[in-house]
Amino acid sequence: MKILVIGGGNMGLTYAQSFLNSHIVTHDQMLILEKSMSKAEGLKKLNIGTVYGEPGDYVEKADLIILAVKPQDINDLFGKIKGYINEQQVVISIMAGVEMSTISEAIGTKKIIRAMPNLPAQIGVGMTVFTSSNEVTRIELVTVQNLLNATGKTIYVEDEKMINAATAISGSGPAYIFYYMQSLIESAISMGFNQSEAELLSYQTFKGAVESFKKFDFTCEEWIQKVASKGGTTEAALNSFNGNEVNQNLKDGYQAALDRAIELSNK
Ligand SMILES: NC(=O)c1ccc[n+]([C@@H]2O[C@H](COP(=O)([O-])OP(=O)(O)OC[C@H]3O[C@@H](n4cnc5c(N)ncnc54)[C@H](OP(=O)(O)O)[C@@H]3O)[C@@H](O)[C@H]2O)c1
Repeated sequence: MKILVIGGGNMGLTYAQSFLNSHIVTHDQMLILEKSMSKAEGLKKLNIGTVYGEPGDYVEKADLIILAVKPQDINDLFGKIKGYINEQQVVISIMAGVEMSTISEAIGTKKIIRAMPNLPAQIGVGMTVFTSSNEVTRIELVTVQNLLNATGKTIYVEDEKMINAATAISGSGPAYIFYYMQSLIESAISMGFNQSEAELLSYQTFKGAVESFKKFDFTCEEWIQKVASKGGTTEAALNSFNGNEVNQNLKDGYQAALDRAIELSNK
């Protein structure tokens, strides 16, 4: 199996490296198309596969093609690769807001998988939600899921609309978590801790909470009850959150992300 990654930036490089690290493919089977000459030179030094700067006959030899360019670059890209795409190839797009029908119409292929990863895919703990067109066979789908699993966890969804929902929750989600960590860090500093102590307090508290959630079968609500005793400090914080409608404000933010994802898809 030959895999062609188009766009050797953050995500394209993540995919190429993850597939190699998981031993699903070898260097000989990995092709990368990157238009930026400086990035292409950098990729060559990493020795992760054959790096090209322009599309050519080699595109036809790829069994799987991963589209990892920014959505604004697709029209230019589609024009250049269209002539090399054939109906047997499976095209996987990780581009936010680009629907499968747009890809199909632009390059004339029907086997399309649309995936929404997130940034921690870079270190193998990403969350990817993906869907596929009807023309992708069961075997192809299993192969792709195995590849995507090399970057973390995956969920398959039947309905392409759920990709926008995944964009709003897990795609943008790491930024929400950093936002909350940042507020903990800022408060810890204002209460007298130095920067590195504040970062440790924030990080270790997150890690402890996440690992506890993973290890025991309690809901978030049950965990909150375990920490918050009646009339105590946690309850004081929670009352303040509730009084300020923090939960609703956060949900409004996730909805704004979903609305924007839908808007981008309709462009
Ligand atoms: N980063 C994330 O957390 C994340 C999460 C989910 C989904 N995504 C999606 O992943 C895609 C890639 O994001 P990214 O952060 O990896 O972007 P990136 O770092 O900018 O990488 C894209 C690369 O593609 C290159 N490129 C552009 N047009 C090309 C062409 N015609 N042929 C070959 N290479 C081309 C760009 O070169 P130049 O620099 O010269 O333009 C750039 O090096 C986006 O569509 C994004 O929506 C990203």
